[in-house]
Amino acid sequence: MRQLHQLAKAAGKLYFGSATDNGELSDATYVSILKDADMFGQITPGNGQKWQYTEPTRGSFSFTAGDQIASFAQSNGQLLRCHALVWHSQLPNWVSSGTWTAAELTSVINTHIANEVGHYKGQCYAWDVVNEALNEDGSYRDSVFYRVLGDSYIPIAFKAAAAADQDTKLYYNDYNIEGSGSKQQGTIKIVKLVQDAGGKIDGVGMQAHLIVGSTPSQSTLESVIRSYISAGVTEVAYTELDIRFSSLPPSESGLQQQASDYGAVTRACLAVDACVGITIWDYTDKYSWIPSVFPGSGAALLWDENFSRKPAYSTVSSILRAAATGGGGSTGIPTATSTAPEPTSTSCTVVKWGQCGGRGYTGCTACASGSTCTYSNDYYSQCL
Ligand code: XIL
Repeated sequence: MRQLHQLAKAAGKLYFGSATDNGELSDATYVSILKDADMFGQITPGNGQKWQYTEPTRGSFSFTAGDQIASFAQSNGQLLRCHALVWHSQLPNWVSSGTWTAAELTSVINTHIANEVGHYKGQCYAWDVVNEALNEDGSYRDSVFYRVLGDSYIPIAFKAAAAADQDTKLYYNDYNIEGSGSKQQGTIKIVKLVQDAGGKIDGVGMQAHLIVGSTPSQSTLESVIRSYISAGVTEVAYTELDIRFSSLPPSESGLQQQASDYGAVTRACLAVDACVGITIWDYTDKYSWIPSVFPGSGAALLWDENFSRKPAYSTVSSILRAAATGGGGSTGIPTATSTAPEPTSTSCTVVKWGQCGGRGYTGCTACASGSTCTYSNDYYSQCL
């Protein structure tokens, strides 16, 4: 059974990946799935490379947390997306509350980027250079950077990153820019701003923190991707995908809607060559950031909190598989019925957490002692 990254590669994408975080790496079950490079060919540190961790006091750098994730990815043969250099959030007070002249803050940005990008030189497929610079109406967000430097902080940051590593892709990254509207126009403005200033910007990262039932349609998603390519970047990516329920627990029909929403994003990326990959913002609901930031919301990822694959997993995997085999990734999303998995073979055993059934599955169906083959959805049963 081919896994998400393998299928995405076979379909012409560069990767299918996941974010992760340091604390989770002590959870053996969690790690056993994350480290599978056929499942996740790309890793993003969820926190460890942010300014508050990497330069907590001026001029004193610490890369311990980021390095742990970078070496995890490297030892498993996974690409690293690096995240994030200049952002108003998770920014230490010495930066956000400092009293700066334009020259001083420029120097602070340059020093931060030279050190961090220099430290990770050669390790990052891409860097999120500027993160979340826009308000919902497409104007620039108020931040210490904007207050002191106006929009010039954006090309300053891109130039500093380019100087520190010539081979990494430089991205502008934001949320609510997957669909059309003012923030999409703001993103296009940023691409042009950097280029007009003589800077290099390679990509737009669409975070894609979406809501079940309110995800833009595949055709809107596709046309927005194309608008960024027309504006002058060579690639785009879905960098932090999760699709949350606003109220919990999800209903069966809600899970089907979520699957269809994940399907729209997957198909949109497949439909445009310049979309290089999809990263989910962690893979299991057990470690999703959503419940802590949007109280009452959650269940946003492809695996539930017990590591069972959700219907959305099956949909994403089926769409990637169809595209990988030239079967037409843009035809109908498979619909679920409530049939139980068919036993196909009992002459072998499946380890705990492994797949033991599901539509189209032809492997072992007997679970190792201590676990039972448990129906998860039509496409997946698992030894639990
Ligand atoms: C989130 C992390 O997942 C959380 O652990 C942390 O507490 C807050 O930040 N946009 C981004 C990410 O660019 O860095 C954010 O990550 C989620 C929103």
